[in-house]
Amino acid sequence: MKIIDLRSDTVTLPTPTMRDAIYHAELGDDVYGEDPTTNRLEEMASERIGKEAALFVPSGTMGNLICVLTHCARGEEVILGDQSHMFLNEAGGISALGGIQAHIIPNQPDGTMRLEDIEAAIRGDNIHFPRTRLICLENTHNRCNGAPLTPEYIDSVAALAERHGLSMHLDGARIFNAAVALGVSVKKLTHSVDSLIFCLSKGLSAPVGSMVCGSREFIAEALRTRKVLGGGMRQIGVIAAAGAIALEQMVDRLAEDHVNARCLAEEIAQIPGLSIDPARTQTNIIYFDLVSDRLTAEEFVTRLGQKGIKLAPTRPSRFRMVTHHGINSEDIDATLVALGEVMEES
Ligand SMILES: Cc1ncc(COP(=O)(O)O)c(C=O)c1O
Repeated sequence: MKIIDLRSDTVTLPTPTMRDAIYHAELGDDVYGEDPTTNRLEEMASERIGKEAALFVPSGTMGNLICVLTHCARGEEVILGDQSHMFLNEAGGISALGGIQAHIIPNQPDGTMRLEDIEAAIRGDNIHFPRTRLICLENTHNRCNGAPLTPEYIDSVAALAERHGLSMHLDGARIFNAAVALGVSVKKLTHSVDSLIFCLSKGLSAPVGSMVCGSREFIAEALRTRKVLGGGMRQIGVIAAAGAIALEQMVDRLAEDHVNARCLAEEIAQIPGLSIDPARTQTNIIYFDLVSDRLTAEEFVTRLGQKGIKLAPTRPSRFRMVTHHGINSEDIDATLVALGEVMEES
């Protein structure tokens, strides 16, 4: 039985071209700055993103952590959305390792935070308060249906940050999904932030790695922070080689994943017992609810599993599906058939 794995775009496997590039990668010791393949990937990434410099890191989580630790001192505060990956899914790293406090404000369903909520969260000058140092956005917004944040919104938060002397960081794990969905250059989504990360290992299908991007000065500091965290790696070109292919060959095809996700969402909306607003699906992430009391969430997941379909349960009766390079339109059709059968049989 074919397994259709829709749990996440992190399950993507390297393409044959990536495996070939891995095999032939020119290598050196990257802690000495001597790995030519990694140096080339870092140059490609900074150019593509429109920042002065970039740094290869093992994961998106480490990239976000490096950025927050580089921007903030102990006891300082970061403004984060209550649905953000950095707040919910990064093991509290900024407080565990940096003594940095998260100031949480609500994410709206479209992944934004209201400007007035951000402004109200910025601390005044008072010895009782922690100092606000950083505002973080997430684009696309994973928990908010993979919503892409627009350049206008990002620029408006950046203007607010600048007025208050704050820095801005973007968790752009899926920034290329946002650019493709909005039909804008990725630079439009990044030009007004001080730092960002993006992941090579999600929709872009590289096996490992994320990039931290920012000014030359910021990346020089981030390099020290990466070392502190034990993220200085040696002949890392073996994985950077796949990252370079990811950037060169895998960005434009993300549009296919978005079409597949929208198709899934529209058809799920027609299945009795399941609930979704398909208009919210703009990229490769969909969330839907089980609204039937004829089967439990566990039974739903088990029965789909028996038909070869894997999905990610999030809240008690809410599920996530993510389309990616390993999923084609026949897989979408097969998934919809399985969903229909599970609901009919219950
Ligand atoms: C929005 C977002 N940011 C950051 C990450 C962390 O990336 P990694 O799994 O490489 O640590 C993820 C992972 O799913 C994510 O969805």
